[in-house]
Amino acid sequence: MSDEQRFFDFLKERIGLDVASVGPAIIERAVRQRCHALFAHSSDEYWHKLQGSREEQQALIEAVIVPETWFFRYPESFATLVKLARARLEQIKGMRALRLLSLPCSTGEEPYSIAMALLDGGLAPHQFKVDGLDVSPLSVERARGALYGKNSFRGQHLEFRERHFVAEDERYRLSERVREQVRLQVGNVLDPGLLAAEPAFDFVFCRNLLIYFDQPTQRQVFEVLKRLTHEQGVLFIGPAEGSLLGRLGMRSIGIPQSFAFSRQQEPEPAPQPAPQPAALPQPLPLPIPPRKPATPAPRQRPFAVRAAAVPVVESAPVSDATSLLAKIANLANEGKSAEARAACEGYLQRHEPVAQVFYWLGLLSDVAGNAMEAQGFYRKALYLAPQHPEALAHLAALLASQGDVAAAQRLQERAARSLRTADSESKR
Ligand SMILES: C[S@@+](CC[C@H](N)C(=O)[O-])C[C@H]1O[C@@H](n2cnc3c(N)ncnc32)[C@H](O)[C@@H]1O
Repeated sequence: MSDEQRFFDFLKERIGLDVASVGPAIIERAVRQRCHALFAHSSDEYWHKLQGSREEQQALIEAVIVPETWFFRYPESFATLVKLARARLEQIKGMRALRLLSLPCSTGEEPYSIAMALLDGGLAPHQFKVDGLDVSPLSVERARGALYGKNSFRGQHLEFRERHFVAEDERYRLSERVREQVRLQVGNVLDPGLLAAEPAFDFVFCRNLLIYFDQPTQRQVFEVLKRLTHEQGVLFIGPAEGSLLGRLGMRSIGIPQSFAFSRQQEPEPAPQPAPQPAALPQPLPLPIPPRKPATPAPRQRPFAVRAAAVPVVESAPVSDATSLLAKIANLANEGKSAEARAACEGYLQRHEPVAQVFYWLGLLSDVAGNAMEAQGFYRKALYLAPQHPEALAHLAALLASQGDVAAAQRLQERAARSLRTADSESKR
């Protein structure tokens, strides 16, 4: 066993982290930091200390987790939640409070956004309760403190801050009214008994976690999420996690940019049931955490993209490049692969080539199982935008699945560098 492998294995076992998802460099750096903090002279010495101390085990976990989050991340999903919550309240005739779960909740921005959205959407405090869980006690403690700096507020629409926060020095303190709606606790999604005594939740948010797991772990966690989600409930996931849920038998509810899935299956299309097209990643607002591509080994891809005779489905003429890009993202996210590909090709005929379009083409080819074509498109994306984080991550995963571990590692390191740069620029 290599020096590092034991640390990789430890983190995989404890929190499910797959080294391939973040790249070894990030874990190795965390180990170095902890060695330094404990004055350990070698990784053997540190390993020994780690084995003997629960506190240190938690410290190493804290050093590798990616707590990146902010209020109203993916805003459309909160608008969708409000509509669905009102409908659900009618359905259950207001006989009980709605139950919502944010897992992982990180430092609280997500569960508090849920509560603010529902309050602003007209729900009364007694009509819902939100639970937030995260494996990091430090993050949960910060969430309980409910005091936030400017990094938690991103994007243009910050009116909610006026309504729900009070400025305190350089930061903002969340109102008691919102905080009372949210219960926060430490919890590990790998724990098979997690919230076992609790009734199922009407709405579960599990966003930007599954990307850090390998496929067997994703399946294991999916079983937990399924148990936690009410049969008539809805599961909200991260933009990069849709194809996974499609494969595991959940159905996108079809609202673009919401990344919401229902437990109910599509009615069977006889005689040959076609696999439900999976949702595809959306371009993420930067900075994003290093992440594992949503599309694993091409052989297991759930649906095929037809290369020829693709219908162009422009219901209304798309006049400019920006709206066409948004349209491509929506089509891909709705699982309309053929239409998304046609829209990409249309884009390239009418506009200057851009990395994002080649990235989408790569992803569509990747999902269709055409690894060679996907590689070509990802490379074109990187030629135009050498630091395109998703193209880097997806090409790395593709190369790794083909056994080219060294090339994959180089790309992962490049992606990590690019994300660190984006992150530090965003903090300026
Ligand atoms: C990128 S944040 C996502 C926060 C929020 N859901 C969002 O999308 O903005 C990832 C979080 O997952 C948590 N996490 C990692 N492994 C976990 C596990 N096994 N169980 C619960 N939480 C975990 C980390 O502590 C971190 O706070």
